[in-house]
Amino acid sequence: MYRFARNTLLAFAISNSVLASPLTKDNGAVVGDNQNSYTAGENGAVFLQDVHLIQKLQRFARERIPERVVHARGTGVYGEFKASRDISDLTRAKVFHKGEETPVFVRFSTVIHSKGSPETLRDPRGFATKFYTREGNWDLVGNNLPVFFIRDAIKFPDMVHSLKPSPVTNQQDPNRFFDFFSHIPESTHMLTWVYSDYGTPANLRQMDGFGVHAYKFVDAGGDVSYVKFHWKSRQGVQNLTAQEAAKVQSKDFSHATRDMYKAIAAGNYPQWDLYIKVLKPSQLDDFDFNPLDATKVWPDIKEVKVGTMTLNRVPDNFFQETEQSAFAPANIVPGIEPSEDRLLQGRVFSYSDTQLYRLGANHQQIPVNRPRVEVNNWNQDGAGNQGNQKSDVNYQPSRQDPRPESNEGRYSELPLSGSYQQAAISKQLPFAQAGDLYRSFSAQEQANLISNLAGDLGQVKNSEVKHQMLSHFYQADKGFGERLTKAVNGNLKTVVALSR
Ligand code: HEM
Repeated sequence: MYRFARNTLLAFAISNSVLASPLTKDNGAVVGDNQNSYTAGENGAVFLQDVHLIQKLQRFARERIPERVVHARGTGVYGEFKASRDISDLTRAKVFHKGEETPVFVRFSTVIHSKGSPETLRDPRGFATKFYTREGNWDLVGNNLPVFFIRDAIKFPDMVHSLKPSPVTNQQDPNRFFDFFSHIPESTHMLTWVYSDYGTPANLRQMDGFGVHAYKFVDAGGDVSYVKFHWKSRQGVQNLTAQEAAKVQSKDFSHATRDMYKAIAAGNYPQWDLYIKVLKPSQLDDFDFNPLDATKVWPDIKEVKVGTMTLNRVPDNFFQETEQSAFAPANIVPGIEPSEDRLLQGRVFSYSDTQLYRLGANHQQIPVNRPRVEVNNWNQDGAGNQGNQKSDVNYQPSRQDPRPESNEGRYSELPLSGSYQQAAISKQLPFAQAGDLYRSFSAQEQANLISNLAGDLGQVKNSEVKHQMLSHFYQADKGFGERLTKAVNGNLKTVVALSR
């Protein structure tokens, strides 16, 4: 009796101060003792009845959720996007109405290694932006490099398996991923990017971002344009050499997150301008490559600036916001659609699917993912549901509770031709843009690329794999191939023969 009264008084006294609010169990009831378990005397057993102890151990054991299968290591930041140009002739999406301001959440990431891995590793960097628009969420899930390794989603799981640590040794192994890439000539362009110093950005603020794929813009009249997105860093682009990256890593494996949090705390808010390149459907055949191939850039198309993003607030809680954030190319709004790019088509399925597994059926109700507009449909129930469903009608159409569709949300229409098929695209051009890229690098950048690539390719034991890879770089640019062959002690005759 005395104990109860004393605790109640104590709880009352401290509840007046926010800092000292009483500790509670998950049901909200106060905790009596968080230091000593409830036991039968001094040396007796611990009671199962100590529900606080049991709950604490149960919740602790369930703290981890599956990490992302790729892009597990990342950091998130909030901010705003402001549209600066009237492009209503291209898209009806309100996020691009001139002057429109839209809150955003951006998550930057590395790709291959797990959640605790160093941020210095050679990898593309994920650059995923969630726009909380007044027409629903639009996610632009891109990278810091303008192209990708493959052009068909059917190859993605194999590619990732080859790049992830071996199932036997648990170590990443160039013998495995070059074995895979030696079958994928279109990867030459992306490998040239990744093995240059662009594969080790100095931090997250000083790198660009790219949507990589072509998307579709659709205007109010239903006219379609193809568009590629490019975030240009106002901080400039800064990369690390392999030696610099090793030095940073020896001191700090969270240097990129730390840099971002430090900049935001100092009020040094990073900004990116968003540029677009546009093609009309009638122009798709005008190139010696397929503009819907994600291994290609659109080199001669002018970029125009359409807005600016400023990042200015870090999450209050890493797990709740950054870890539980879910970006998906399927999150589109009227006026923005996926193109026919078959890599993108696979992604439109894959992200929402993995998030149903990683975070559950109601992951779009988690605050960081929740649209800032009302969600109004009859998807219901499921674990963790927080929907506010009060109506007796949970179907559509209904005369009692009509919830009409809107023409705004209809997909665009374009004529179709061709037949059902399983075939690669016809204009493949696997090497030319890798050669252009190599030649665009400065002498120092070329030297670093050769040295970085030779370091990994030189470890490949299977000479067929090694020579096939060398022949890809040789076909991109003769000088590139010759220098690389010399650097890895390959046989130039074999390389030249394979290239024919
Ligand atoms: C068919 C090809 C691809 C597939 C199947 C695929 C699949 C995935 C999956 C399953 C995730 C984990 C998502 C999660 O757990 O929330 C992911 C994350 C991510 N992917 Fe891809 N991916 C593909 C290609 C690409 C490409 C081409 C890009 C860049 C343009 C990209 C950028 C990202 C980014 C930035 C993330 C991390 C998003 C975040 O920060 O949460 N992926 N991808």
